[in-house]
Amino acid sequence: MHSNTRTCRLSVVAAYIICFLPGIVLAQDPTIAATPPMGWNSWNHFACKVNDQVVRAAADAVASSGMKAAGYVYVNIDDCWEGKRDEQGNIRANEKFPDMKGLADYVHSQGLKLGIYSSPGPKTCAGYEGSFGHEEQDAQTYAAWGIDYLKYDYCSFKGDVPAQIAAYKKMHDALVNTGRPIVFSLCQYGMDRVWAWGPSVGGNLWRTTDDISDDYDRMSYIGFGQAGLERFAAPGHWNDPDMLEVGNGKMKPDEYRTHMSLWCLLAAPLLAGNDLSKMSAETLAILTNPEVIALDQDHAGVQGYRVAQEGPLEVWVKPLADGSKAVGLFNRGESKMPVTGYFRDVGVGESATLRDLWAHKDLGVFKDAFTAEVPTHGVVLVKMK
Ligand code: GLA
Repeated sequence: MHSNTRTCRLSVVAAYIICFLPGIVLAQDPTIAATPPMGWNSWNHFACKVNDQVVRAAADAVASSGMKAAGYVYVNIDDCWEGKRDEQGNIRANEKFPDMKGLADYVHSQGLKLGIYSSPGPKTCAGYEGSFGHEEQDAQTYAAWGIDYLKYDYCSFKGDVPAQIAAYKKMHDALVNTGRPIVFSLCQYGMDRVWAWGPSVGGNLWRTTDDISDDYDRMSYIGFGQAGLERFAAPGHWNDPDMLEVGNGKMKPDEYRTHMSLWCLLAAPLLAGNDLSKMSAETLAILTNPEVIALDQDHAGVQGYRVAQEGPLEVWVKPLADGSKAVGLFNRGESKMPVTGYFRDVGVGESATLRDLWAHKDLGVFKDAFTAEVPTHGVVLVKMK
């Protein structure tokens, strides 16, 4: 099963198993992550203060706030859930998660899916039990609990690049062997050009950077720094510039709109990272704008790219399945400035019909170019047809 011979095992789960490229023998259900995964993750807001109640409250909020209707489906537990292994080596949750199967049932009863976290190393980044030497066993435990998503975080793993690749593939194959569709999220901070080999180890997404924080400089450094990675993204396999900070309180609304616009143009996974049980109407509106999310979830799955830059002003384009273009006019500068998107850069011909996706407003027909006044650290996001 681990050879390059394109051998596919025929079994009851054959429908979920496809022969892929040489080097990848088993792959999961090809509908997994056909568009960038959407959901929530505990880390950015709760870090190690996550527990069963926090996760249930997040699931309740996703289901009732309008987020589920907007497409958010995964409720992901990050680090700090792990307890000790039993005598047989089976991983157990710690006292903060008294009944993981019960929690999964609860999340599933809301029409949502549950995600979990581990490491290919012996310890996770927060020093809890990792999966090293227990990959098959852990995958089976996750499947028995009803887990739908695994973030697999490098942390204490030691080894060269081939060892790292083998470790990620090992867990991927263990997940596939469970017969349960489980999204496989690689997290090793973009080392060793992970975007080039992420698909070959079955990664549905791979972090391209070190950790984000709730800070405009950090968010924009990461987001705008994705330029050039677009050729590595495709349905089923996404670059992951890390989870959202929208609503965590340290950026201004214009900065959060930049964060959301950029992530959607980048076809990035959208994992909200705020406390959903206490979010403002403005945060919810930023997270659930259907016209902006539609860019991220566009089924053509093309990652957007930068087409023009003039000092702090940048124009990014994402081609969409219907032939139109999503265009972000960004101002990274310290004062309000006009930003122009020239149609020759965008690739829409001489004239185009425009719609402003944050203002929810048709702007009419323009010739050759469109100029908008863009607030400091802000964006004007339009669709051009
Ligand atoms: C790393 C990851 C974060 C988070 C923490 C948990 O820093 O990059 O996203 O998962 O570990 O310890």
